[in-house]
Amino acid sequence: MKIGVASDHAGVELKQMVYDFLCVADYEVVDYGVSIESTQSVDYPDYAALLARDLSEGKIDRGIAICGTGIGMCIVANKFPKVRAANVWDEFTTRMSRVHNDTNIMCLGARAVNHHRAISLIQLWLSTEYEGGRHDERLRKIAQIEKQNFK
Ligand code: RB5
Repeated sequence: MKIGVASDHAGVELKQMVYDFLCVADYEVVDYGVSIESTQSVDYPDYAALLARDLSEGKIDRGIAICGTGIGMCIVANKFPKVRAANVWDEFTTRMSRVHNDTNIMCLGARAVNHHRAISLIQLWLSTEYEGGRHDERLRKIAQIEKQNFK
């Protein structure tokens, strides 16, 4: 599985932790920035868009997007076709985002979630399967709305 990670300045330390964790766990990881070397404040839409565009085009399988709250990253990511991004903060929202929504981008708030807990939420997200069944029709409707609204 090829996983992309992206963050703004508020999420860069957690992103580095996530990047290291995913590499050690033997995933193929693409880092969309911002660089850990950067000391500047940056705009989260720039980094969310890099990650979400590649996911939308099938260049990566999953994405993890981190900002201060996870909210900005999530808003931007969901502007891209085929992206189902969710801002999660505990085991319940993480699990349900996979089981019911088949999320392909996980958004985290570096200022909202303990960083060690964030890593265990990522493990949970990556190991939880989509349930299918009645949820297929709901995802089909999301895809239909995308077709109507995106060029
Ligand atoms: C940056 O200060 C902050 O606004 C950003 O990281 C994020 O929380 C936006 O949703």
